[in-house]
Amino acid sequence: MLLAGCGGPQSTLAPDGPAAQVAARLWWGMFVWFGLVLLLVASLWLVAWRRRPRRYDAEQARQVGLRWILAGGVLLPGLSILVLLAFGIPLGLRMLPLPLGGPPPLRIEVTGHQWWWEVRYPETGVVTANQLILPVGQPVDLELASADVIHAFWVPRLGGKLDMLPGRRLTMRLRADRAGPYRGQCAEFCGSQHAHMVLAVEALEMADFNAWQAARRVEPPVAREHAAAVRAFRPYCGECHRVAGISDGRRAPDLSDVGARPSLGAGTLAMEPGAMRLWLHEHQRLKPYNGMPRHDRLSEDTLDDIAAWLETLVP
Ligand code: CUA
Repeated sequence: MLLAGCGGPQSTLAPDGPAAQVAARLWWGMFVWFGLVLLLVASLWLVAWRRRPRRYDAEQARQVGLRWILAGGVLLPGLSILVLLAFGIPLGLRMLPLPLGGPPPLRIEVTGHQWWWEVRYPETGVVTANQLILPVGQPVDLELASADVIHAFWVPRLGGKLDMLPGRRLTMRLRADRAGPYRGQCAEFCGSQHAHMVLAVEALEMADFNAWQAARRVEPPVAREHAAAVRAFRPYCGECHRVAGISDGRRAPDLSDVGARPSLGAGTLAMEPGAMRLWLHEHQRLKPYNGMPRHDRLSEDTLDDIAAWLETLVP
C-alpha cells in the first residue's frame, strides 16, 4: 500500500464523486477479502507444515492430496469469486450511465489523440483541448472516442477507467462533488508520449461554468500589434489548428483559449511566461514525435510573434 501511494492528486482512494466512491469501495472490498484469503491460506500452510508425517506414504498422500485439491483448488476459489461477484455487480451497475429521473445529464465529447485530448461541448459548440471543465454537483455523460489508437480515460478521484476505442463511442457518467482541480491521465499505452497525455480537469460552480462557456462563444478581436502574427499563423499553423474566427483546422488541438490553459503539450510544459515561445521553438525536444512539424519555414521573429499572440488567447 505504501508503494501504491495512497494520496496525491490521482488517488483512487480519495474519491470526490459517486462513480469514484464505487471504485474506492470495490477496491477496499477486494483488499479486505483477499487479505482474509491470504490469512486463511497462510494458516493452512502452517498447519500442514506442523502436521507433516515423519515418513512419506504415497497412498495417504494421494488421498489427502485429492481432498485438498478439491477443497482448496475448486471449492474455496469458487466461493471466493461468488462472494466478490455478489459484492461487485450491484456496485458496478451504479457506475453505468442508466437513465435518470430528472433532466438528462450534460453531454461532453472527449476524443483521444496521439497525444492530446479533444474536448467538445455539443450543446454550445465550445471546443477546447487537454482541459475538461465540469459543473459541480451535476451528472455529466462523457462520450469517449479515439481518433487513432486505443487510449483510456481516467480521472481517478472522479471515477473509474474506460478505454477510448477507434470507431466506438462509450459513455462514462461522472459527477464532481467538490469544486477544484483534478488530474486525469491517459491510462492505456498509446505510443512513446503516452505519459505526456495529461488531462487537466476542473470542476466549477454552475454559474462559473456557464460563464466559462459564455466567454468561449465570443470571438475576440485581434489587436493591431498581433496582425502580422495572425497573417503568418493562418496559412501555416491554421491548416491543423483552429482558433475561433481565425482558422478552422481540425487535426490538432483547438487553440481558441490556449492562453487560459494550465499547460502546453498535454501536461508537458506548465503555462508560465515564456512557455509558449519555448514550446514553439523546442516542442520536438520537449515531446518527441508529437504531430507538430518543426517550424523551419518560419523565421525566429515570426515564431516569437505567434507565441506572443497565442499567449493573449484568454477568453
Ligand atoms: Cu493516450 Cu496513452
